[in-house]
Amino acid sequence: MTSDLVAPKPPVVEIDGLTRSFGGRTVLDGITLRIGRGELFGLLGPSGSGKTTLIKLLTGMDKADSGTVRMLGERLPKLAMMHRFGYMAQADALYNELTARENLLFFASLYGLAGSRRNERIRAAMGVVDLLDHLNKPVAAYSGGMKRRLSLAIALLHEPELLVLDEPTVGIDPALRQSIWKELLALRQAGTTIVLTTHVMDEADKCDRIGLLRDGRLTAVDSPEALKARSGAQTIEEAFIALGGGVRT
Ligand SMILES: Nc1ncnc2c1ncn2[C@@H]1O[C@H](COP(=O)(O)OP(=O)(O)OP(=O)(O)O)[C@@H](O)[C@H]1O
Ligand SMILES: [Mg+2]
Repeated sequence: MTSDLVAPKPPVVEIDGLTRSFGGRTVLDGITLRIGRGELFGLLGPSGSGKTTLIKLLTGMDKADSGTVRMLGERLPKLAMMHRFGYMAQADALYNELTARENLLFFASLYGLAGSRRNERIRAAMGVVDLLDHLNKPVAAYSGGMKRRLSLAIALLHEPELLVLDEPTVGIDPALRQSIWKELLALRQAGTTIVLTTHVMDEADKCDRIGLLRDGRLTAVDSPEALKARSGAQTIEEAFIALGGGVRT
């Protein structure tokens, strides 16, 4: 079969008319967004603009008041989709009283990883975040940055085709941040779709496209270059502020 006879694959993420309110306050107001296969998509916006809320909706962790989310062609929420993406929450979801290895084994069993592949994947994921020497330490004895790194290793564990990372590099030192970004770019190169949030402008600059969230709406969705050109800015930070991203909601 030649490739032009194959039906085009749907976008990895399809969000339509998503609305979410808390206590009568609208936090997300009719968000519509497509994220394509192999894309590195960055979600930017002032603190409180709704990035984490949107991330939770697009992973099926939270339910919208209206609108729909499809991931890899499947309507969410759907439990079986848990295997297909890796998720790193803004607040680490780890068992403090367990060691890092025990945390990884727990998530490996959730993802259906076993045997030698499980052990290989634990070593590979912990290698990426430079925690191989700390596998048997209780998480309670980890520093804040080490917990972030372990959360990232868990998100990478089952080599998911979609990674959803909420502020993945907060609290991580510059050298390791650089090596984590090298890994993210390599994963993207290998076809993994990555959606992340960040407040770090040089990270935003590395994204294929950026979505600017403000007052519960996506005010701009474009490549960093196009956003700079549109706002006449030299840097993505200037573009972000010129396009309203610097205004606190
Ligand atoms: N469960 C909840 N109950 C009530 N309000 C909430 C809840 N979750 C989020 N909010 C509110 O929704 C708004 C958006 O929060 P969200 O965490 O999505 O922001 P954010 O863009 O991720 O911010 P930050 O950059 O600080 O992480 C905030 O005003 C927050 O207080
Ligand atoms: Mg957040």
